[in-house]
Amino acid sequence: MNNIVQKDILQQLQQLQRDAQTALTQATTTEATREWYSEYLSRKGRLTSILRHLGRLSAEERPLVGKVANEVKAVLENALQERQTAIAQAELEAIRRAESVDVTLPGRPQNLGKLHVTTRALRDIYAIFTAMGFQIYDSPEVETDEYNFQLLNMPPGHPARDMWDTFYTTTPGLLLRTHTSPGQIHAMQEYSPEPIRVILPGKCYRYEAVDASHESMFYQVEGLAVGKHITFSDLKGVLINFANQMYGEGRRARFRKSYFPFTEPSVEMDIDCVLCGGKGCPVCKNSGWLEMLGAGMVHPRVLQNGGYDPTEFSGFAFGMGPDRIALQKYGIDDIRYFFTNDARLLERV
Ligand code: FA5
Repeated sequence: MNNIVQKDILQQLQQLQRDAQTALTQATTTEATREWYSEYLSRKGRLTSILRHLGRLSAEERPLVGKVANEVKAVLENALQERQTAIAQAELEAIRRAESVDVTLPGRPQNLGKLHVTTRALRDIYAIFTAMGFQIYDSPEVETDEYNFQLLNMPPGHPARDMWDTFYTTTPGLLLRTHTSPGQIHAMQEYSPEPIRVILPGKCYRYEAVDASHESMFYQVEGLAVGKHITFSDLKGVLINFANQMYGEGRRARFRKSYFPFTEPSVEMDIDCVLCGGKGCPVCKNSGWLEMLGAGMVHPRVLQNGGYDPTEFSGFAFGMGPDRIALQKYGIDDIRYFFTNDARLLERV
């Protein structure tokens, strides 16, 4: 009777070995081999459940079954290890193939960004003036009527206010600055009675008839020097030095009389046309000259409004348009390109 049981168990072990080997050939992932192990070789697996019947065998029969069971177990463990090694290699190979980099491929061209032409002009201006001892001073874009006009010697109703077509806000007395000149007052009020040398860059707004050289939003850089014994020669020296550095040595410059309510005397500075060298061309409207900036000696009343005693202090001020400078410097024919976000503008410089 026991002999029959022994035979049966041995058959079951052989059957188990065949089943397990077949199943193993179908396991193609590490996960599948784990499941296979759990089904055949784990403590809850089929081999263990067959061996539970050992108790039904006699002491003489057990060693043979035990030996066969150990052999089956060893065969299956070996087969599992081989399979796992093969699968691990295949998985690694698949990852390698999926993530491989072909170092012989040519690189993809990168589109490098570029600074906007006005930003470039601004940075050139900063570098030249800071080297001459000017500091950069920030002042607000939204201004009061008082700072934009009154403290600059333009009381309400002053006809010179018409020189600037102003955007007013719905709050009475509050406007978008039409020029950077109100920054002069802020800087003077902050530093008086110390001498100052500042440039004030930033955006300005005017209700303009927009054309190739006029935008309704544009940049200005204001300059202001206040101290004792500052003369018109200092103004000329600083501005000629600036023109030579900005456009190259040997530029011809001229100063024409002009009018601004906040400077006395007032001038406008021209340089010989950077494109035709003064011969005359469409850019300079055949005059040979390009207008560069407005300037003058700070009006005594403006000095007073800034907190300086005009009998002791004097100063000069100027205001230039870096967008216009960029147009000239980079030979661009229309200021309206500057805010249209067309990247081709940057490729031209
Ligand atoms: C002024 O705004 C004076 N505040 C300048 C000044 C400062 C004079 C200090 C004296 C002392 P004007 O309106 O000319 O002046 O403008 C100065 C510069 O700003 C111009 O030369 C031009 O380069 C630039 N600019 C003026 N209007 C525009 C515009 N609509 N679009 C682009 N640039 C402009």
